[in-house]
Formats: sequence, C-alpha cells, structure tokens
Amino acid sequence: MDTILIISSLIITPIAVIWAVTNAVTILTGAPYIASHQKAIDDILDLLPPGKDHRAVDLGSGDGRILIQIAERGIPVVGYEINLLLVLASRYRIKQRGLQKLAKVQWKNYWKIPLDQFDIVVIFGMKHLMDRFEKKLKAELQTGAHVICSYFKLPNWSQDSQQGDIYHYIKN
Ligand SMILES: C[S@@+](CC[C@H](N)C(=O)[O-])C[C@H]1O[C@@H](n2cnc3c(N)ncnc32)[C@H](O)[C@@H]1O
Repeated sequence: MDTILIISSLIITPIAVIWAVTNAVTILTGAPYIASHQKAIDDILDLLPPGKDHRAVDLGSGDGRILIQIAERGIPVVGYEINLLLVLASRYRIKQRGLQKLAKVQWKNYWKIPLDQFDIVVIFGMKHLMDRFEKKLKAELQTGAHVICSYFKLPNWSQDSQQGDIYHYIKN
C-alpha cells in the first residue's frame, strides 16, 4: 500500500499535473490534444501529392500518428508540438519503427516556425484559429505548396479537393 502511494505521489501525480497544465496551455496557444482517427489519416494520406520529393510538416503533431504514416510513404516530415509528453511519446514511436531519418519532432510553438521550407502542411486546428493559420500560410508558403486541414476550413481560400472531413488547398 505504501509503495503504491509513493509511486503515485512521485511519478503518476506529477505526470498527471504536467499533462493537465500543458493541455490547458494548448487551449491558449492553439488546438488542444485530440488524436486523429484512422479514417481521417487515410483521407490525409489520399490527399498527399504524388512522389516522395517533398518536405512535410504537421503543425501540432500530437502523438506522432500522422507523421509516422507520412514518413512510411517515404516523405520527410517534421512535427512541431508544444506538449513535451507528446513529443517524447512521438519520438519513442518513431524510433520503434526505425523512421528517425524521415520523421522528426520538435518541442516548439508552431506559430514561431517559418513555413517557407515546407511544401506540404498538415493542420488539425480549431475553427477560431483558421483565420490566423490562413494569414500565416499566405505570408510564408511558396506558391504550389499543399495545405491539408482536418475538420476546419481556411476561411477565404477555395479548396482544391476534399476527402471526408479533410480539406486540401494549393497555394496560389
Ligand atoms: C487537435 S490535436 C492534433 C494532433 C495530431 N496532429 C493528430 O491529428 O492526431 C492539436 C495538437 O496541437 C498541439 N498544439 C497546440 N498549440 C500548439 C502550438 N502553439 N505549437 C505546437 N503545438 C501545439 C496540441 O498539443 C495538440 O497535440
């Protein structure tokens, strides 16, 4: 009984507190953690441009599930994630699958990352964030870059295609 209490107070409680605080912070910085289900990921993968000669980014990469499946297609991909526990979990999953050369995750705020280095951008935001994302994409992306948004549309861009709840845009 004492051992359970000690483990709980030294390990589980601090992790639970860090998780709760970080998730609360993500509501202020962007979207809170909600993992994409496999149907949405399949739709994202269907919307990827052909070939491997791309550089993809997942803005708010969660537990890495999208990154991993993009990297499994041979496309180099970087995830930016503000929740350290999710960064560590993703790195572990990437390493388990031997995808370290193609998939990287950085513990960073995506609003501070210049996007001009990427030609595929994957976003699972929230409705109230899409206008801010749109301005950032407009200012930073190269013409011809692909933007793939889950569930919420960019307010002023006309979409090029749609698969289920996933919207695909090509930057003019
Ligand atoms: C809706 S979840 C999507 C997770 C993952 N992309 C997926 O589809 O499974 C949004 C993610 O963005 C992260 N996030 C929120 N604000 C962020 C910010 N400013 N910079 C980096 N990551 C952020 C959250 O921690 C969360 O993991």
